[in-house]
Amino acid sequence: MNVYDSRIIAEILRDNGYEEVKDPTKANVIIVNTCSVREHAETRAFGRINALNALKRKNPTLLIGVVGCMAQNLKNSIRGTDFVVGPSNYRKIPEIIKNELTALCRDRAKDLSVSERIHLCVDEIPELYSDILPMPDEPNHKPTAFVPIMRGCNNFCAYCIVPYVRGRARSRPHKHIINEINLLTNKGIKEVTLLGQNVNEYNDGTLSFVQLLKEIDKSTDVKRLRFITSHPKDIDPSLFEVMRDCQSLCEHIHLPLQSGSTKILERMGRKYTREHYLGIVSKLREIIPNSSITTDIMVGLPGETDKDFEATMDMIDRVRFDFAYMFKFSRRKGTRAYNMEGQVTEEVKKERLNKLIERQNRITREKNASLIGKVVEVLVEGQSKKGNLLFGRTRGNKVVLFDGKVNPGAFVNVKIDSLKGWTPYGYILTNITEQV
Ligand code: 5AD
Ligand code: SF4
Repeated sequence: MNVYDSRIIAEILRDNGYEEVKDPTKANVIIVNTCSVREHAETRAFGRINALNALKRKNPTLLIGVVGCMAQNLKNSIRGTDFVVGPSNYRKIPEIIKNELTALCRDRAKDLSVSERIHLCVDEIPELYSDILPMPDEPNHKPTAFVPIMRGCNNFCAYCIVPYVRGRARSRPHKHIINEINLLTNKGIKEVTLLGQNVNEYNDGTLSFVQLLKEIDKSTDVKRLRFITSHPKDIDPSLFEVMRDCQSLCEHIHLPLQSGSTKILERMGRKYTREHYLGIVSKLREIIPNSSITTDIMVGLPGETDKDFEATMDMIDRVRFDFAYMFKFSRRKGTRAYNMEGQVTEEVKKERLNKLIERQNRITREKNASLIGKVVEVLVEGQSKKGNLLFGRTRGNKVVLFDGKVNPGAFVNVKIDSLKGWTPYGYILTNITEQV
């Protein structure tokens, strides 16, 4: 979502006559887009702002802006910036920059310091930016793109800051989504990932999420369609049949588990049990046996005991996720979990996270090793950083490295012959672009 938001901001600025420069030392304005889901993300953003202030000392007319969730969360307590803009006010950025630049000229004439000027621009108008359609512009662009279908979230999970900084859930009109996908496929995009905090709650007043998927499959030329993120409490029983029957829908779901303990899930306010989650997984595997499942897991929510943690370890053994993003609970001010009793010590959180990562990484390696000897359809994304190899993704969203000479955007059949770390390596058997 953040990458897409940066592109929305770039598009708004371009429309107002601003030009992008690659070299930060040549910029008149630098905007830092931020995340505040975990404290670590905020710490990194502060580091970035400090580093940019070193540039500002060399170039005092440089403007530094902070946007995104952290801007909304911390508002004017972020020092060393000229403006702070929350996620619903990006359209005001050109005007703010213009006023800043005007003020800067005036101040310079008066020889005033401008380094501590802060503009606050945060309010509650829910924005969708549905009319802004960031398109790939560079000639050899990636064949994949993100398309948001909704913004915000209504779920207020006890640990999560997102609903507070991004507002309530609102869905984009399906016609805008279809239009954006059509424009993208005309530009050569082959794979689209639909974005939302909880895509299963999509409803634009006409279509539900499952109906939206069918409509996109039917009325666009997109070759591969994915969606993130799903919420286990809102999975429509017909979703997996639709995934099986619609050619473009990939055999992959990102389904955050968060915890394997029903007690902890209840404290989190997730509104499902471990049995419900296991039920979804077996239904999916019954309907789409080769589907891959990825997840988010958090350890150390206040009140999590060794037994609760063992229930999470047990779940990853039962489900055998293809991949997991794993986190330590991070205390976010304003959320219910911030003041919950039974905060887990940093040491215990670290220990649990390490155990979890070790076990899940082993499972990821084993799952990927099961591809050895198999032929997988890969969408070529480009040159990998490792040597002269190409890289691309399978329909199950696994990154694969291989030798060959084909352009990004081609579909190839790759035979997997080895694993390095957990990455599958192989070679092109056939170029199937023409058959797709
Ligand atoms: N601490 C740690 N992880 C968090 N996430 C959300 N909020 C927190 C938090 N306070 C994780 C969840 C979510 C993912 C995007 O980030 O696992 O699914
Ligand atoms: Fe946060 Fe829960 Fe919403 Fe996901 S569903 S964004 S974890 S509140």
